[in-house]
Amino acid sequence: MCGIIGYVGRKQANNILIDGLKRLEYRGYDSAGLAVLDDGTICSLKRVGKVRELEKAQEHFQHNGTIGIGHTRWATHGIVSEGNAHPHLSDGSHFAIVHNGIIENYLPIKTFLLGKNYTFYSDTDTEALANLIDYHYQKEKNLSFVEIVRKSLLHVEGTYGIAVLGKMFKEEIIVARKSSPLLIGIGDGENIIASDASAIARYTKQVVYLNDGEIASIHPDTFSVTTLYEGLVDTVYHELDWEISDVDFKGYPHYMLKEIFEQPAAIENAMRGRFTQDGSSTKFGGLPLASQELCSIERLLFCACGTAYHACLEGKYLIERYARIPVDIEHASEFRYRNAPLGRNTLVFVVSQSGETIDTLGALYEAKRKGNLVMGITNVVGSTIARATDGGIYQHAGCEMGVASTKAFTSQLTILSMLALLFGRRRDMDYATGQQYAHALRSLPERVEEVLGLSEEIRLIAERYYRMEHFLFLGRQGMYPIALEGALKLKEIAYVHAEGIPTAELKHGPIALISEGAVSIFIATQKELLEKTVSNIQEVRARGGKVVVITNDNRIEWKVISDDVIVVPEVHGGINPIISVIPLQFFAYYIGILRGYDVDRPRNLAKSVTVE
Ligand code: M6R
Repeated sequence: MCGIIGYVGRKQANNILIDGLKRLEYRGYDSAGLAVLDDGTICSLKRVGKVRELEKAQEHFQHNGTIGIGHTRWATHGIVSEGNAHPHLSDGSHFAIVHNGIIENYLPIKTFLLGKNYTFYSDTDTEALANLIDYHYQKEKNLSFVEIVRKSLLHVEGTYGIAVLGKMFKEEIIVARKSSPLLIGIGDGENIIASDASAIARYTKQVVYLNDGEIASIHPDTFSVTTLYEGLVDTVYHELDWEISDVDFKGYPHYMLKEIFEQPAAIENAMRGRFTQDGSSTKFGGLPLASQELCSIERLLFCACGTAYHACLEGKYLIERYARIPVDIEHASEFRYRNAPLGRNTLVFVVSQSGETIDTLGALYEAKRKGNLVMGITNVVGSTIARATDGGIYQHAGCEMGVASTKAFTSQLTILSMLALLFGRRRDMDYATGQQYAHALRSLPERVEEVLGLSEEIRLIAERYYRMEHFLFLGRQGMYPIALEGALKLKEIAYVHAEGIPTAELKHGPIALISEGAVSIFIATQKELLEKTVSNIQEVRARGGKVVVITNDNRIEWKVISDDVIVVPEVHGGINPIISVIPLQFFAYYIGILRGYDVDRPRNLAKSVTVE
């Protein structure tokens, strides 16, 4: 949540900061700001709203400094206002700071500083840290910049990723991290720091990720990393696998639509090189488990949040059906505080597109603390979750910029389906069944292309329903997680009431919502239990509700019993959820657009949730 960028080098900092903020905007977009050091003075500019407001204002901001920091905000403390936007300056303007995270003990710090005659101009927790840094500077003027910030941070409880500018430190930025990501992009005569690789990728591919409890001093030609307790850190360089084109629109009006259409490639990448030679199973180089260990696993536990949680729920249906291993799933935010009993032979997976979600990270640490092996499924190479797990699987879906996750979800489903095949073949799945499954997976990109061809048809359907306020998504068994995901997408970007419900549960309560103003979307893509679903559709129709059916079965006269039908290809059960969810992604996208919303920046949301 929130995006941080910083530059120190020989070029004018402003434009680089604005460019970085645009790329970070999906992290938060309540307000944005920057500060540059120009001729020994910290000059700052802030605007409420999107980065383009800041960019417009910056045309009249005549400061040519070659060092600066910027921030795009997702509010935690204090309303959305220019005063609360970052950077925050210390009283007297000696320091400017941008901050992601929450300083939990900011009130006692603020009270202490008020007692020392500091004046506060915002409602934020961050301003307390800006003034605390100034306090340490005023107290011991001969300290180095890194020492001033280090001393201040030793008093801070909570989470942070920070970048600090000091008016007397002309070519130095200090950054530090605790539970909020930061990386340093190493350039030639310049260094860039950011909370997210997307802001760095166009300048350099060589990066250093900061670990929790580390603090770094960044100059144009050098940088040094130490721990908060002054221990030296061995620098580990990483190569970014991002392409600049990953963060371009490539002719699409929105990232969300672009990413829906990128699904065949994302799925292809998730599978590349991961089938066994005999064509009946899968393999993952990142899972450090010997054959015997794979066979001795008695239970799997998956933890995740939001869309990734829905992927895990789908994984439960797939793995239990095809591999016959019991699977538990938990919202990571619940698991981390629940003290759940874990069996010795339980293998834990955490799933996270960003690899930075703080609740998922909390679940990971909790499971490790209990002595279990924890694997990750994540899209961002080098992310905190990727580095903290004992092994795992990269999605290779490419950068996902849309706040509403689409291609990352189907890529997670692909990997979970491949895991079902892997575990199945280690248990009682025979060779021929494994081959059929693997064949279906390989055909997936092509089948997804077919579904993408339904875009215009679904847009026309969305036109008929976009003014409605209640949407129920109904699915049985493995289509229940798809119903949940369809509802989440619609809530996120169209701001309407939407619920995902196991179809048969309808009559146990939610049927009370059915009226002419409610749309029920039935995901009827499994042959089994189809007749029962038809009965449920009749129950809705009998109460005047609108019905849309997604199906792959042409034996039933759907047009007679529903208002609209979307026909998708009939496929193997292991890939059916992927085929079934794509119409729902389009549906949510078009409803959001027709209602006039900015689908790439839905209100109140941010791409990566790094606060609890
Ligand atoms: O990066 P993660 O996969 O850990 O993110 C988890 C959720 O915050 C995320 O899926 C969220 O629900 C999305 N906005 C869904 O579209």
